[in-house]
Amino acid sequence: MRHRRYSELLADRCDSVLSVDVSQRMIDIACEGHARPNISYQVRGLFDVTTERDSTFDAILAMFVLHMFPSHEAALRHLKTLLAPGGHLIFMDKVARPDGLSRRYLYYVAVRDSLYLAVRRRVLRPALRELRTRAHSSWIAHQFAYPGLPRTVLHAMYADLLPGATIVDHRHACAVHWQAPSDKTGTGTTTT
Ligand SMILES: C[S@@+](CC[C@H](N)C(=O)[O-])C[C@H]1O[C@@H](n2cnc3c(N)ncnc32)[C@H](O)[C@@H]1O
Repeated sequence: MRHRRYSELLADRCDSVLSVDVSQRMIDIACEGHARPNISYQVRGLFDVTTERDSTFDAILAMFVLHMFPSHEAALRHLKTLLAPGGHLIFMDKVARPDGLSRRYLYYVAVRDSLYLAVRRRVLRPALRELRTRAHSSWIAHQFAYPGLPRTVLHAMYADLLPGATIVDHRHACAVHWQAPSDKTGTGTTTT
């Protein structure tokens, strides 16, 4: 996964980074052999990150996580409370496929993406890993459990909660940047 890459990207640009995931395994993978003095990796749920405990953040990066919450909107509202005035909220999230999910489609994606790695990029091992992961029954079950919301619903929610946000649509995802109204400066910390 890209958790580590995102945290390091922020660590190059910010004084300090708080990098959280509710899964111990994800945090282990993210920090194994990549400790940085200005990144604090912690096993914590998003709602356990609070202004009382952590103060506010100049930038928040949330990649492909909001679709996993029972209420996407509640998670987004919570992220907003964590931003310092003038702070940046950047996230990317999954969009539901308009014609629904099928096993057949998921197997097709598994083969398509691994062939791309093997043939176009000529990296055999990552191609096999990709195929094994994406064709695995847990991965397939995960896709059905967290299908994402329809694009129109997401756009309406973002317009309501994040007025003036920049929204970029990708094929099966939506990228968003929103800057909080600014009156004072934040603390210099960042979270993913
Ligand atoms: C699709 S993965 C993306 C992980 C990472 N952002 C990346 O791009 O590599 C979604 C992650 O959300 C985490 N997650 C689910 N519920 C969470 C919560 N309540 N608080 C924090 N992380 C959560 C899961 O453990 C999982 O690692």
